[in-house]
Amino acid sequence: MSPNAGRLEGKVAVVTGAASGIGAETARTFVANGARVVAADLQDAPGRALAGELGDSARFAHCDVTREGDVAAIVDLALAEFGQLDVMVNNAGIVGAVGPIASTAADAFDATLAVLLRGVFLGMKHAARVMVPRRTGVILSLASTAGVVGGLGPHAYTAAKHGVVGLTKSVASELAPHGIRVNAVAPGMTATAMTSAVMAGDPANVEQAARAIAKRTALGIAGEPRDIAHALLYLASDEARYVTAHTLVVDSGETSAIGRTPFHDAPSEVIREAGRRER
Ligand code: NAI
Repeated sequence: MSPNAGRLEGKVAVVTGAASGIGAETARTFVANGARVVAADLQDAPGRALAGELGDSARFAHCDVTREGDVAAIVDLALAEFGQLDVMVNNAGIVGAVGPIASTAADAFDATLAVLLRGVFLGMKHAARVMVPRRTGVILSLASTAGVVGGLGPHAYTAAKHGVVGLTKSVASELAPHGIRVNAVAPGMTATAMTSAVMAGDPANVEQAARAIAKRTALGIAGEPRDIAHALLYLASDEARYVTAHTLVVDSGETSAIGRTPFHDAPSEVIREAGRRER
């Protein structure tokens, strides 16, 4: 048992995109901490395998987050199977449209936002539908460092993830008086099928992606799904009861400590007016 076991005792969560990567690890971490979980995904075989691994505490549901009926159904399944919904995790994602802005197809842009932003909107909407009457709940969504600064992801992805940060703030302000917290987590590069497909040309080659990521981070390690799952666990738990409208960046400092200034290695002194130096 992890030393953290029990932080979500008695809670019920829905996790979208739970068949792989961050979503799968979040489902495992939540169950290890006492939660019961509806694991939802487009990919049936790995989703069912995960639910089998987690036993009585989990159910798999096929769900395309771009379809409102599917999203409504996974929320209703949580109520039918486990009696309530305490935590909604809007995690499902794709890389989506890539390439120059001048040649990005409008349909590809729309399809990307349909998963990454409309999907999150639908998750928030249907979670709020059942949380508001109970006056309790936590809604968490996966943003990205590409939702905080430009130049880290493709255009549509970046726009959608900025949208997730904005929607998180907006919905948090509406739902706070109802006792519902709404937050996002913005991971930096994390070794999953998504990054492996791009960095190693093979979604299964997570180890190669992890090695490549580790070379690029300030801490010299690759983000792993558990690093993001633990951030989600904190925000989902009552330990974060005073935290809402927040985007928790988990990125080895990528968006806050870019580069390494030569001043760090300079002799210790004070540089004053006109370059005058004092020791
Ligand atoms: P992943 O590819 O391992 O898992 C994503 C899951 O979402 C897959 O199981 C996939 O089947 C599912 N999915 C995709 N479209 C769906 C749809 N329409 N309906 C339902 N499920 C759908 O990717 P990863 O890395 O675990 O990504 C999870 C989230 O974290 C995504 O929102 C991603 O944008 C975000 N993120 C990931 C980062 C990374 O470096 N891996 C960095 C920043 C954010």
